Amino acid sequence: MEKEVIIIGASGHGKVVADIVCCSGDRVKGFLDDNFKMGSSFIGFPILGTTNNYKDFPGAEFVIAIGNAVIRERMVGKLQGVKWYTAIHPTAVISKIDTRIGEGSVVMANAVVNSGTAIGKHCIVNTGAIVEHDNILEDFVHISVGAKLAGTVKVGKSSWIGIGATVSNNLNICENCMFGAGAVVINNIEQSGTYVGVPVKRI
Ligand SMILES: CC(C)(COP(=O)(O)OP(=O)(O)OC[C@H]1O[C@@H](n2cnc3c(N)ncnc32)[C@H](O)[C@@H]1OP(=O)(O)O)[C@@H](O)C(=O)NCCC(=O)NCCS
Repeated sequence: MEKEVIIIGASGHGKVVADIVCCSGDRVKGFLDDNFKMGSSFIGFPILGTTNNYKDFPGAEFVIAIGNAVIRERMVGKLQGVKWYTAIHPTAVISKIDTRIGEGSVVMANAVVNSGTAIGKHCIVNTGAIVEHDNILEDFVHISVGAKLAGTVKVGKSSWIGIGATVSNNLNICENCMFGAGAVVINNIEQSGTYVGVPVKRI
């Protein structure tokens, strides 16, 4: 049955999430956005109000289209009791063997999620990203466009792997890390922070 989906965040990322909802055969009911200057519509869909209005739509499912993990987590705390929509683009390749994707997560076009991988809640696996076998992505993790995680990698809560970054196999990355564009991770990362370069260094 077609689901009615409300997207939190009328942004560039929100456009892509709207596209996934449409491609999945569901319906974008509209956006909620806390920016009062947004006007009444966005990419042809209504702006239904701010996130304070979320209780006005009891039949809808919600998905958060905000890249910042801290804000995503805050929204989850605010929107108590809603049903979360998990957005998976039809071209994403998701293994059917022992793979889990948590509620509210978004998997974009041409992404690959391989066998034995567990993705937490409200994660983003962006366009063309590769998450290999036996990975664990804790809640609110973001794997950016074209980033690659080899097998048996664990990424801690709210960490963000930047565009085109590569993470070698059998590694643990702790919570709240940011890896810059093109970064290459070849060792465990035990301290939260921002890392760039090949191999990565903390800045
Ligand atoms: C890592 C990042 C967050 C750092 O941003 P920032 O905190 O504003 O840092 P700055 O731009 O001030 O750069 C700080 C230093 O790190 C270097 N640096 C920044 N990003 C780098 C990268 N990706 N690779 C190598 N060096 C990098 C800068 O050259 C600078 O070096 P310097 O001090 O010797 O001049 C950002 O550069 C980045 O790579 N973002 C990725 C965004 C992304 O993946 N978006 C995906 C959307 S799907």
